[in-house]
Amino acid sequence: MSQALATPPPAARPAEDLLLEVNNIEVVYSDVILVLRGLSLAVPRGKIVALLGANGAGKSTTLKAISGLLKSEDGEITRGDIRFAGERLNGVEAHQIVRRGIFQVMEGRRIVSDMTCLENLRLGAFTRSDSAEIRRDIEMVYGYFPRLKERTGLAGYLSGGEQQMLAIGRALMARPKLILMDEPSMGLSPLLVKEVFGIIRQLNADLGITILLVEQNARMALSVASHGYVMEQGKVVLDGSAEDLANNEDVKEFYLGGHGAERKSFRNLKSYKRRKRWL
Ligand SMILES: Nc1ncnc2c1ncn2[C@@H]1O[C@H](COP(=O)(O)OP(=O)(O)OP(=O)(O)O)[C@@H](O)[C@H]1O
Ligand SMILES: [Mg+2]
Repeated sequence: MSQALATPPPAARPAEDLLLEVNNIEVVYSDVILVLRGLSLAVPRGKIVALLGANGAGKSTTLKAISGLLKSEDGEITRGDIRFAGERLNGVEAHQIVRRGIFQVMEGRRIVSDMTCLENLRLGAFTRSDSAEIRRDIEMVYGYFPRLKERTGLAGYLSGGEQQMLAIGRALMARPKLILMDEPSMGLSPLLVKEVFGIIRQLNADLGITILLVEQNARMALSVASHGYVMEQGKVVLDGSAEDLANNEDVKEFYLGGHGAERKSFRNLKSYKRRKRWL
């Protein structure tokens, strides 16, 4: 028997099904301000992936690069590419990106305050014309967020938590495959944070929606995510399974309330240096 036959070919294992791939992107604002410096990440279909990092690391910029919203802030992807379900997103208009199945829930909620809840939800369905299905989806959103149904006044009078729920509900109305969430815990009480994250987990489990979750609340984010990335100064400096990151000493020290108020830079921490040596 020949050697070739004795050694069976490796099992044809399908590559992991990546819904979103960000490959080595560089982003510049106003032609001069370089914010993302070769950032790469991947989001497998059906998973929740957390993107962590200190203020100004470039987390929101990353989400806006994916959703096409950079353009409205004079930002541009100058290098690298973004692929969604295998297709290139660079240069695609924001509303077309929504049609392809990506919806961003912006930082600070950004609901339309002088419209009602219902009008805000209908706005989320702007890409759709199937009115019976839209009505059904509105009921589905009320199923996840019952208190939104009771609030018939203007959305501007909703509490912070209710506005966050409305912002997520509005995203659901677009029937997205991928939701980009920018700090859903911002400004919420611990109890509400728990509630909102419970719903995020549920949306993922019930509807199979893939979620890229930007958070400062690392503990919460890693508790619902399967995988996480840590960014610093426009780059990923660490990534791994959510469990590994939650147990990582540097992540604990930096994000999970390890040692006092004096925060170090990730770059000075032990395992980051170790990782650098291996690269
Ligand atoms: N429209 C813009 N024009 C110029 N610079 C910008 C613009 N938006 C963001 N930046 C800069 O890019 C860097 C990253 O900002 P970004 O909002 O992406 O960070 P972030 O990680 O989301 O921070 P935070 O946790 O505070 O929300 C910051 O230095 C910021 O000042
Ligand atoms: Mg931000």
